[in-house]
Amino acid sequence: MRKKLIAGNWKMHLLPVGARALVERIRAELDPLAATLAKDREVMVAPPDILIPAVAQALAGSSILLGAQNMHFEDKGAFTGEVAPPMLLAYGVTHVILGHSERRHIFHETDDLINKKVLAAIHHRMTPILCVGETQDEHDSGRALDVVLRQLQRGLEGVADDHVTRMAIAYEPVWAIGTGRTATPAQAEAIHGAIRGAILERYGRERADTVRIIYGGSVNDENVDSLVSKPDIDGALVGGASLKADSFARIVRARTR
Ligand code: 13P
Repeated sequence: MRKKLIAGNWKMHLLPVGARALVERIRAELDPLAATLAKDREVMVAPPDILIPAVAQALAGSSILLGAQNMHFEDKGAFTGEVAPPMLLAYGVTHVILGHSERRHIFHETDDLINKKVLAAIHHRMTPILCVGETQDEHDSGRALDVVLRQLQRGLEGVADDHVTRMAIAYEPVWAIGTGRTATPAQAEAIHGAIRGAILERYGRERADTVRIIYGGSVNDENVDSLVSKPDIDGALVGGASLKADSFARIVRARTR
């Protein structure tokens, strides 16, 4: 059985004091349930890089995993403004969101660059969360599946059979991010099924059944149950609602069937 992954992407929000307070409130809600939750789900938060040390400290002793929102693919070097995988590892970061649509569209990250980052994450035994998703235009013109499967294929280039199961894929339709317009569970399930189908074709049944495919885009405490109870929706990547402890904790406790 795949464990659900509920991940909070804090994006460019919070200061150290607020980040610590948010972790404390999330822990107050979730620590008492940790043993039960651990049976079938994992929880992760991805703060901005500069808050990672503070959040790592605040998370000490909890089962909540620490993620980053991006990283460079080289281990070190003359790359002003970038953060290398070993720097994240030094603070206990285990997961890294890669190819988020905001990285693709605002910062012009290409499939090729994202693929290099995926391979670097795997090399460092981190869990890359590879984001894919179509824009409103692509959605309206019926190209969603083409776009998503192309991003998937290019993101997975060179990912070996034995490594693909370490990854998670996040389907985040761009038109649903921060808009309050979520994909319907049926819409999301159709795309997730197709993503799993593509992984199956290339990596075989067992591996395809292991890879987690999570949904992102206006997930909140009211719509999460209907999304994550779909068989191919293995969790959620949550933006706005992950910044409020009570709503994030409620999302973590989602009914999954
Ligand atoms: P929202 O939940 O705010 O729509 O953001 C989704 C997202 O981009 C998570 O990575």
